[in-house]
Amino acid sequence: GVEKKILVIPGDGIGQEVTTWGQKVLTAIAANYHHKFTFEEGIMGHVAIEATGDPLPEETLQKAKNSDAILFGAIGHAKYDNDPTLKVRPEQGLLKIRKELGLYANLRPIKLFDELLEASSIKPEILRGADILFFRELTGDVYFGEKKRTEDRNTASDLMIYHRYEVERIARKAYEAARTRRNKLCSVDKANVLEASRLWREVMQEVAKEYPDVETEHMFIDNAAMQLIKDPKRFDVVVTGNLFGDILTDEASQIAGSMGMLASASVGDKVGFYEPIHGSAHDIAGKGIANPLASILSAALMLDISFGLKTESQRVIKAVEATLRQGYRTMDIANKHTVNEFIMGTDAMGAKVLENLN
Ligand code: NAD
Ligand code: IPM
Ligand code: MN
Repeated sequence: GVEKKILVIPGDGIGQEVTTWGQKVLTAIAANYHHKFTFEEGIMGHVAIEATGDPLPEETLQKAKNSDAILFGAIGHAKYDNDPTLKVRPEQGLLKIRKELGLYANLRPIKLFDELLEASSIKPEILRGADILFFRELTGDVYFGEKKRTEDRNTASDLMIYHRYEVERIARKAYEAARTRRNKLCSVDKANVLEASRLWREVMQEVAKEYPDVETEHMFIDNAAMQLIKDPKRFDVVVTGNLFGDILTDEASQIAGSMGMLASASVGDKVGFYEPIHGSAHDIAGKGIANPLASILSAALMLDISFGLKTESQRVIKAVEATLRQGYRTMDIANKHTVNEFIMGTDAMGAKVLENLN
């Protein structure tokens, strides 16, 4: 077996409720396959601000740098969402750790489990067979460009900025992935308006020449948002910038049935970072009803991408599939039309997956 050190950062809200299940699944896998996973815990977000005044304490960052992989939940609190004037904010912690760890590629697979065909608000015949892998650039764009506010506070700006090397490296990652899939890549931008997007498209066109075996398409973000719902099957690998990728993947979560199903892997310089794409979900936090499958599937991505444990990763995905086939559902993936479903909370659902793992 292998020995790995995993940092767990549950964060805020439902992050705390779901991440424990991702961790339990990793523990079960280690036991079943004779690996040794040791876990450390770190704080980030609102809980970290409360404890230390800093959304990403130095101690958490150091632990992250010294780990083999990180399992993250979510950050965020209604207090900051309701008061845009607050200077110290939970989200700063997440952005800083992504930057510090060089996590420039955020992989967000959109895979619909057949069992959830009826759970989405999109028609089953449109969805069946949809399988998209998003590459969202994660350390550039308007997220990290200079922010300004005039002295009179009446004018504000965020700089949308990309450098050639940032576009090149995410392009190559996306093309390499396309080669292992259906050899189709769609690059999404707003090059008809934005200079940063014109650089993006220029560089994409150049990198495309290195991959003549992959069919490349360029699409504007507004059209892509529409095509995604009209005909999700037309997409294979989609590569896009930080902001467009953020928005498109929340939309794409409906192809997989729910935000509660979408896992992600952030990779780059060294250590991998695994998290659901959803947030701390104030509306359901503390109720014990959040879907833990996104965290569990994030753990599966860790096993595969950071540890190269493909069999173990597949085992987790099969356990999730089996759980869904048995009819177990959290409320976000419950379907109003079917009768053979058992609607349950976070812990009951997580426990069913564990049973199916053993
Ligand atoms: P959200 O993703 O938290 O929630 C959006 C909707 O999806 C809500 O209705 C929520 O109940 C539902 N949902 C999300 N995850 C679910 C799950 N596992 N099971 C069932 N339903 C689920 O987005 P929001 O409401 O816009 O943001 C809430 C807070 O989270 C904000 O403070 C925001 O900044 C933060 N946020 C953090 C992250 C992150 O940590 N990566 C991501 C997005 C938002
Ligand atoms: C995500 C979130 C974050 C982002 C926020 C909380 C900073 O929405 O991980 O998708 O915009 O990247
Ligand atoms: Mn988001």
